Order: sequence, then C-alpha cells, then structure tokens
Amino acid sequence: MLNQEEKLQSEYIDKLKEIVKNKENALSRKLTCQVTTFGCQMNARDSEKLLGILKEAGFEETESDEADFVIYNTCTVRDNANQRVYGRLGALKPIKQRNKDMKIALCGCMTQEQSVIDKLKKSYNFVDLIFGTHNLFCFAELLYRMYTEEKQIVEVWDKTDVIAERLPVDRKYPFKSGINIMFGCNNFCTYCIVPYVRGRERSRKPEEIIEEITKLSADGVNEVMLLGQNVNSYGKNLENPVSFAELLREVEKIDGIKRIRFMTSHPKDLSDELIEVMRDSGKLCKHIHLPLQSGSDRILKAMNRVYNKEQYIDLALKIRKAIPDISITTDIIVGFPGETREDVMETVDVINRVKFDNAFTFIYSKRTGTPAAAMENQVSESEVKENFDIVLTAVQNMAKEQLGRFLGETVEVLCEGLNEQDDSCVDGRMSQNIIVHFKGDESMIGKYFKVRLSDFHGFYYDGEIVE
Ligand code: 5AD
Ligand code: SF4
Repeated sequence: MLNQEEKLQSEYIDKLKEIVKNKENALSRKLTCQVTTFGCQMNARDSEKLLGILKEAGFEETESDEADFVIYNTCTVRDNANQRVYGRLGALKPIKQRNKDMKIALCGCMTQEQSVIDKLKKSYNFVDLIFGTHNLFCFAELLYRMYTEEKQIVEVWDKTDVIAERLPVDRKYPFKSGINIMFGCNNFCTYCIVPYVRGRERSRKPEEIIEEITKLSADGVNEVMLLGQNVNSYGKNLENPVSFAELLREVEKIDGIKRIRFMTSHPKDLSDELIEVMRDSGKLCKHIHLPLQSGSDRILKAMNRVYNKEQYIDLALKIRKAIPDISITTDIIVGFPGETREDVMETVDVINRVKFDNAFTFIYSKRTGTPAAAMENQVSESEVKENFDIVLTAVQNMAKEQLGRFLGETVEVLCEGLNEQDDSCVDGRMSQNIIVHFKGDESMIGKYFKVRLSDFHGFYYDGEIVE
C-alpha cells in the first residue's frame, strides 16, 4: 500500500507522462535523459530512483551530454567531487545554448550547502532545477514544476520526516540491489560534512525493509546491500527498537536472497551479536568495511571517532578470529589538521597488524562548516603528499599479500557481467568482494558458480569453473 506522499508523487508521474508525450509528438522522437552519479552507494541507489521516475514518465536513458534532460546527483564529501561537478556543468552550457529545450538539474549532497546554492544562482543560472537529499522523493513533482514554471526552481530542505520508498526504481543490475535501511548520521566526526548534508539518523522500520527485499527477491534479485552511513546503530531510535543484527537475522530468512552485504560500519557501534550473525550465517558475505580513518590516538580523538588505536585493532582481530576467511577493508584519511609523520606511522602500524585486504586512502579535504576546517594546524600540501604515499604503499603491499591468500582454493562467485576487455570471459565476485575472471557468456550473468582460483594478478583472480 502506498502512503500519502507516494500516492501524490505517483499522480505527478501521470501528469509528467502527458508532458513528455506532447513533447515527443512535437519533436517526432523520444525524449532522452542522462543521470550521472557522483559519490557513494547511497547516491547510486538514489540515482536508480531518479532514473526509475524518468523512465516511467517516458524518457529514454542516454549517456550523451546532448540529452534533453541531464541530472547530476552530487557528492560533497571532498572538495574535488564539487570541482568535478562545476567542470561538467560548465561543459553543458554551450550544449544548452544550442538546444533551448534542454533542461539541467542538480541534486544530492552538494546542493545541501548554502555556499553552493549561492554560487549556482550567481554563475550557473542555466541550471533549471536544484533540489537536495531530503526531498528527493519529490522528484516527480519537481520535474513537473520545472516543465510548467518558466524559472529556475531551487527547493532544498534541511530535514524531513517523510520516507517514501515505494516509487519507481530502475535497477542497474537485475540480480543485485542496494536497500536504504537508514538515512543520515549522528556521529559528527569533525572532518565530515555528511551529518550536515544528510541530516540526523533515521531508521526505516524493519517490516518495510523486509517487504522491499521480499519484492526484490520475487523480481530476480539474489544479492542485497543494506545501506546506511552507520548501519551498526540501525534501529536504536525506532519506536520499537531493533538491533542491526536482529534485522540481519530477518533478512536472512527471505527466500531467494543468497548474499547479504552492508555498508558502512562504525567501529564504535559494532556488536558481538553482529560478529556472531556474520560467523554463523550462510548468506552474510565474508566482507566488512570498517573505516579506521587514522591509527593515531591523538588524531582519532581530534576526529571525534570515539575509539582508540588498540580498541580498533582488538575489534578487527576479534572479527578475524571469529571469521578467519573474512576480508576487512577500510577508509583512511591522510593530512588531518595537526597530523605528524609519527601519527602516520601509527596508521601504517594498524595496516600491518590488522592486515587490511584493501583500503580507500583519502587526502584530508577541508569542508566549510565542520569543526576541523576551523582548526589552526592545517598540514602543508607537500607534507600531506609524502605521508599519503607512505600510507598508500603500505596499503598496496598489504592488499597484494592479503588478496592473494585464496589462490588455489575453490570458491563461489556471482557472475556479474561480461569482461570489458575480453567478451569470451565474465567477471564474478567472491563473497570477500574480490573479482574473478573466468570463461563464460552473457547467459551466466546473475548466477552463482564454483570457481577454482588459478592465477592471481595483484587485485583480481583468474579462475576455472569446477561445476
Ligand atoms: N576529507 C577526506 N576524506 C573524508 N572522508 C569523509 N570526510 C572527508 C574529508 N573531509 C572520507 C572518510 C569516510 C569516507 C566515506 O570519506 O574516510 O569514511
Ligand atoms: Fe561522516 Fe563520521 Fe558519519 Fe561516517 S560516521 S558519515 S565519517 S560523520
């Protein structure tokens, strides 16, 4: 059953269908749309919703910048993501000058910042529609307004209580899907802009999540990725509190779901109950992404991460002990204000002791409005560069050693698509989130195979099907 908001948006989709039809008739062709995603898995999922509504309204998807409607779903976690969006927008301007009917929209985390809105209004007045993360569910209504009101529409909210998830979605993969289980973040790590642009933590009710996954399973999905900024604190603020581990136990019971993943865990909230579920489950993947950010107690404190180096190492080793074949990946920030070479060597020590299977390493990016941006001891670019190379080398050396440890084993892989370089081969994914290339064809996509890992190439395997 649709809730009130979902019904309202469905009515707007019907109105849009008419507008699109009329335009099609006038142009004697289909209208095209391009949806471009920047940033994380949450944004990727949001983009599937944008595309779902556009397709339902009658648009055809294209990758071309010459589309009738272009929307950028933006990220602002680091400044280079913002700069890429401004660059792409600049390139669209001459295209729009040639095609007066073209419409351009911007949404996502960037537009939640007032400074961005000011800049867009001043220097990018050719953008027709700007909205934020809290009113993405109003996309159909906003599109309708964009086509019926001849002015730039800027509609950004600073929060919402509405959860409207039962609207059209166009999934990128037929066999796997992300599912939002919660929105926002309450942690306020001092470098991070997410709590300001995504708002406070809100969990979806377990029964709604189960209903969505059951439907996805009936629609051919066999792998789900439960999404949230901090899934370990899922359910704490619900009227009837539920733990993340309890939610996982329920998801496990859904027929047809073979693999369950989740993203992202905060070390401070990771429970023993979760480790037990992961250990005992036949469906939970043997992979956990557990952001470290820094190995230095001093820096962790300044970051407001609420754990110290030894606590992190103890937790990671406890997970490894319970689930020996698990892969542990992480995020690391280099160049946080006040970080010295000594601090960086503490981070390297954690890399070596935890033996991360892989890590995303980021250069600290100053985000206006966050406490860290106002800290006085910002580190010079040259120092950061040197420290970044030290961390990256440690990560790469460890990843090579760790990822290669499955050579010769026979593992289950999900075939995800044809290999881009060699179309007589397919790419599969192990439970540990490692890619395997093996002989195959399109008919195998979305299915599981037992594959012997015959060769290791640094970050992926070649394999042979055993059965
Ligand atoms: N600078 C650099 N990296 C950041 N991250 C979050 N904020 C910043 C920032 N200001 C990184 C963290 C987080 C990941 C999603 O992005 O490592 O885990
Ligand atoms: Fe940002 Fe910290 Fe929340 Fe992650 S947990 S989104 S790093 S504030």
